[in-house]
Amino acid sequence: MSAAPAPVGGRTVLLIVCGGIAAYKALELIRLLTGAGLRVRTVLTAAGRQFVTPLSLQALTGEKVYEDLFSLTDENEMGHIALSRSGDLLVVCPATADIMARMAAGLADDLASTLLLATDKPVLIAPAMNVRMWDHPATQANLATLRARGVAVVGPEIGLMACNETGPGRLAEPPAIAEAIFRHLAGPAASGSLTGRHALVTAGPTHEPIDPVRYLANRSSGRQGYEIAAALAALGARVTLVSGPVDLPPPPGVTLHRVETARQMLAACRDALPCDIAICAAAVADWHVAQEATSKIKKTAGAPPPVLTLVPNPDILADLSAPGPTRPALVVGFAAETDTVGQHAAAKRQRKGCDWIVANDVRPETGIMGGQENEIILITDTGAEPWPRMDKHAVATRLAGRIAAFFTPDMPSGRSPS
Ligand code: C5P
Repeated sequence: MSAAPAPVGGRTVLLIVCGGIAAYKALELIRLLTGAGLRVRTVLTAAGRQFVTPLSLQALTGEKVYEDLFSLTDENEMGHIALSRSGDLLVVCPATADIMARMAAGLADDLASTLLLATDKPVLIAPAMNVRMWDHPATQANLATLRARGVAVVGPEIGLMACNETGPGRLAEPPAIAEAIFRHLAGPAASGSLTGRHALVTAGPTHEPIDPVRYLANRSSGRQGYEIAAALAALGARVTLVSGPVDLPPPPGVTLHRVETARQMLAACRDALPCDIAICAAAVADWHVAQEATSKIKKTAGAPPPVLTLVPNPDILADLSAPGPTRPALVVGFAAETDTVGQHAAAKRQRKGCDWIVANDVRPETGIMGGQENEIILITDTGAEPWPRMDKHAVATRLAGRIAAFFTPDMPSGRSPS
């Protein structure tokens, strides 16, 4: 999983270790990075020092550990501005709520925050904190700010934490962080980027009107599709998001088209073509009402209730997957199933003609439909790959990484109009 792509060896990572019970995992991360031939320089914050010792960092990296903004020795050897630019990538692991807040605010009151403000290199953070701290609107706002500025984020994962609470906040596993670092360092040449690609994403439910005030709908929150749109944009893709009615803010850097019905969604998708990638995450209603009433259907005492005649909606995924000059190079569908998930999803992949299927178990007891987490099986032409349960953001990040890896630099793009 964490084998380094060839080009990353010999590059330097500047690793900032902050305070937190997960700081010990930074030691395992260093082992993975140095094992892949990377040079690792470390910066230890005052809080980080409470959890790992400078000596262990020094022993693992074979390098001096930087701790103090005002150390004359350090300034003689290398000024903090030079240090901030001495690596190919700055990694903050674990990234606490505090360092995220200080990065978002642009503070520079210790060595770590100063380096993060002074650097001209890409930054990747691996957050770890208590679930309430993670969920707090302040942290989420800081996260959005950092993402919008191009900071890459790995994790956090969902699980039981040292504080005995369960939820998002646990540091991503070191191999996953190492993999993200390798991908960043390898750059577009190793398929880490979607720059120049156009991605079309559908998300949310559709509303199928019965009359001007009533409609048929489903419980889709749109969250997974919005996360995917954001993750693709973070990798440099131009993203068109065609969304049914949801209660979510537009993801930064994404062109959003709001629609109501499946027929409108299909039209908006066709308008967005050509594209390189199509991800159909919308929970499109299977039917619409044959004859939509133009005025509100009245309840008349004693009269029988109205009978709704339903007719099938267009299948957007099948439409986009159909062979033709504008077929995207990669079409990904979703399969929400309640039993024998993998089998049904594999059959759906064949039936719809798409390339990959993201299958998930939406039995009500899983809490997935409309919830924060997802547990998927990725079905491609090479087989079925079960992923561990993780939050929808982590699923999106990982899926976007897989999509980026699919596109080799020599693949022609969909000549999408900008
Ligand atoms: O057929 P089913 O609804 O199970 O297929 C799910 C997949 O097909 C999802 O990717 C969904 O977005 C897509 N779909 C679609 N248009 C439809 C029905 C489903 O794009 N009318």
